Amino acid sequence: MSLAGKKILLGVTGGISAYKAVFLLRLFKKAGADVKVVMTEAATEFVTALTFESLSEHPVHVRMFEDDGKSAGAISPVEHIDLAKWPDLVVIAPATANTLANFAHGRADDLLATIVSAYEGPIVLAPAMNDVMWENPATQENMRILSDRGFRVAPPERGDLACGYEATGRMAEPETIFAAAQTLFASPLRGKKVLVSVGGTEEDIDPVRVVSNRSSGKMGFAVAEAARDAGADVTVVAARTSVAPPHGVRITRVRTGDEMASTLRREFKNADVLFMVAAVSDFKPASTLAQKKKSGEGWTLELAKTDDILAALGAEKGKRVVVGFALETEDEEQNARAKLARKHCDFVVLNKPGDAFGLDTNVVAIYDAKGRVYESKAPESKREVARRLVELVSGLPR
Ligand code: CTP
Repeated sequence: MSLAGKKILLGVTGGISAYKAVFLLRLFKKAGADVKVVMTEAATEFVTALTFESLSEHPVHVRMFEDDGKSAGAISPVEHIDLAKWPDLVVIAPATANTLANFAHGRADDLLATIVSAYEGPIVLAPAMNDVMWENPATQENMRILSDRGFRVAPPERGDLACGYEATGRMAEPETIFAAAQTLFASPLRGKKVLVSVGGTEEDIDPVRVVSNRSSGKMGFAVAEAARDAGADVTVVAARTSVAPPHGVRITRVRTGDEMASTLRREFKNADVLFMVAAVSDFKPASTLAQKKKSGEGWTLELAKTDDILAALGAEKGKRVVVGFALETEDEEQNARAKLARKHCDFVVLNKPGDAFGLDTNVVAIYDAKGRVYESKAPESKREVARRLVELVSGLPR
């Protein structure tokens, strides 16, 4: 989706990654957008207003009021309302912990926060800070408040921090923030109902023990998020997960394969697309013990096969688009494509073993019936894979 002709207000706040906002500005300009820059005072300690002024071809605003009658970057008292009315999109990169707190709590104590509080359109945030500040419950709570209110987020990435070590807190790359801005204007799944299964199912051995797997739910939640960002109405059926679910999607919790199957069967009737990301336990105890098995001695547990939910739903898919996942350790392509055919999928996402569980990144190959349509060149974020998948699904004629 093109950003040509779009009016973008780029808010730059005081972090070391403020220099990367210069590259972001250039990407926006190259795409044909009209960009105005507002900086916080702290941001000007990192990059000069003149840099942004030259590249944006607009004056850069910093302060609310002229303090000495000749300071550059100040605006007249009502101009902030004009600036709040001007953009089609506001992008804050980098967004410091303080900026996030200001936005979350409606504080308007500098020019940028004042503009944002008087602005009603879409906003993309690119937080950047020290990893401990990012993990701080106050920051996380502020992020939750902001996501709930519809702010879009290009989350910080893992990498070398200015603090001299590797952790999560580095601002997303300008290309990633640019892509997040682009998707705001593309809503390829608007009006579509998307169903996503997530997490690892559990099968009871006895009242306290289960058969399960190591799925974290990260990939499924990333898919739900990407579908939401593409404008879809998203329902998530989630088995056990170890990460927080995204906002703005409907979530039904289940535990066992049978619960997941019956919930999905009900939701599938109204769905246009199914992403079957859940790691459904392939096996369950042949029988469940009514009492806790005493630990006295070893024993042999007999396992039976669970029902294949995807194969059953795929067989009744009609016009729906169905996406399956596969984890293979040998003859990967052949097995993945056989699974695609057997389970009536439009796409199957092959996870390379060892690269899937619990991590933020994944290495995948995506197949349709004709062959490979996408392959990760290197480990990429699950969010990136999810966006790719949503793009592929959006491109199918319906
Ligand atoms: N799946 C399912 N129901 C099951 C098992 C798997 O719906 N009982 C779905 C998964 O959600 C996934 C796809 O089927 O989308 C492939 O899962 P996988 O475990 O790789 O496939 P299996 O059919 O179990 O084959 P394998 O023998 O390779 O484990």
